[in-house]
Amino acid sequence: MPIVTIKAVRGVHDILPADTARWQRLEAVSRQVFEAYGYKEIRPPIFERTELFARGIGEVTDIVQKEMYTFEDRSGESLTLRPEATASVLRAYVEHGLHVLAKPVRLYTVGPMFRYERPQAGRYRQFHQLNLEAIGENHPALDAEVIGVLMELFRRLGLADRLTLSLNSIGDPACRPAYREKLVAYLRQNAGRLCGECRERTERNPLRALDCKKPDCQEVLDTAPSILDALCKECGEHFARVRQYLEALSLPYVVTPRLVRGFDYYVRTTFELLTGELGAQNAVAGGGRYDGLVQLLDGPPDPGIGFAVGMERVVLLLPPDAQDAVPLALLIPLGDKALVRLLPVAQAMRHSGVTVEVGYGVRKLRNELDRANRLKVPYVVILGESELEKGEALIREMGSGTQRPVPLDRLEAELIALGGVGRGAEPPSEVR
Ligand code: HAM
Repeated sequence: MPIVTIKAVRGVHDILPADTARWQRLEAVSRQVFEAYGYKEIRPPIFERTELFARGIGEVTDIVQKEMYTFEDRSGESLTLRPEATASVLRAYVEHGLHVLAKPVRLYTVGPMFRYERPQAGRYRQFHQLNLEAIGENHPALDAEVIGVLMELFRRLGLADRLTLSLNSIGDPACRPAYREKLVAYLRQNAGRLCGECRERTERNPLRALDCKKPDCQEVLDTAPSILDALCKECGEHFARVRQYLEALSLPYVVTPRLVRGFDYYVRTTFELLTGELGAQNAVAGGGRYDGLVQLLDGPPDPGIGFAVGMERVVLLLPPDAQDAVPLALLIPLGDKALVRLLPVAQAMRHSGVTVEVGYGVRKLRNELDRANRLKVPYVVILGESELEKGEALIREMGSGTQRPVPLDRLEAELIALGGVGRGAEPPSEVR
């Protein structure tokens, strides 16, 4: 049998060292922003009973019907890798009685999600989300707060100007059924001009047809009845107040009556943050209100609202970090005695937070200098036999090639002075 090299699964990707600085920056900034608004981290598991998503997200959604990674464990129980975090966070909220905390209960979680979607640029089968939920309050000011957190995150990342906030209200169980009927009637009348998928959606999940990107369908949808004309008094007032508060916060938005989302749990406010820079996968974040969902998961009648940010898509928008952290110096011992002398120097440097590399004392100086060039270190320290005898080492500045002797007992202090504490060893999560 030919040997086949094992590769990552289709639609699943490695985050390589060249990119991790951007990931760490995104995580660090989001934690800072979320915590500044009073959100606390919760870490639910990555898999749950399948029933949770079927009930929470909705049986007839694409996610539940076509996209879940579902498997039986050895006891025959049906489990699913989470396709999103909201259902898990609310399951934990109910299971641990978090509703007794002061409301709204503000929670966030960061981690991988899994959807069996057709992979393409910006769309993966394992992807990562920053997910934020505010539970137990239905005041429209909370909607504006949650959207405000999202916009603050992107402002801090320097991306706000490149994104547009789409805002809509999709009504509630009081007004949506009548709208649904109107829409179905309209779509049926125009069925001949719709694609097969939209015709199928007309019967199964008609609001989702509004989402179709095909030009022929778009033409039909442009003149479809608008949900905003069909809102009941309460939903209309709620939406007007969300808009008023967003304006008070100077947060720009575009009302998008055709914005529908792929989950059954949403009511009233829904929103997406869109970019024109990533082709078809243009949403970097999406969210909305889900009053009724906690109750559907056997909890109290607590309303809620939240969003999730697609981290891969944000990382694609972030500029590469100007400079990767490089070590301050390569310490080059020539021989084992020199190695024994330099090992504790390296250890002390690292204790002080300065990153250095050490050779093993077995390679030629030329080869070690070559390595120093590839590491891009600004300095090397050379310790050969003659230097050892004199009790000194040579510090060479790689840029100019100049070198000078330094007494061995001053070596650490000299290097620290050259690099300043923290050089090359900045904690990766530090926000720059
Ligand atoms: P969602 O719109 O399905 O919402 O996902 C949020 C974001 O995750 C999307 O805007 C996109 O950036 C990213 N995303 C989704 N699928 C993929 C994929 N296959 N590959 C890469 N990125 C992807 C939710 O998940 C809701 N749970 C949000 C929410 C929280 N609503 C209320 N609370």
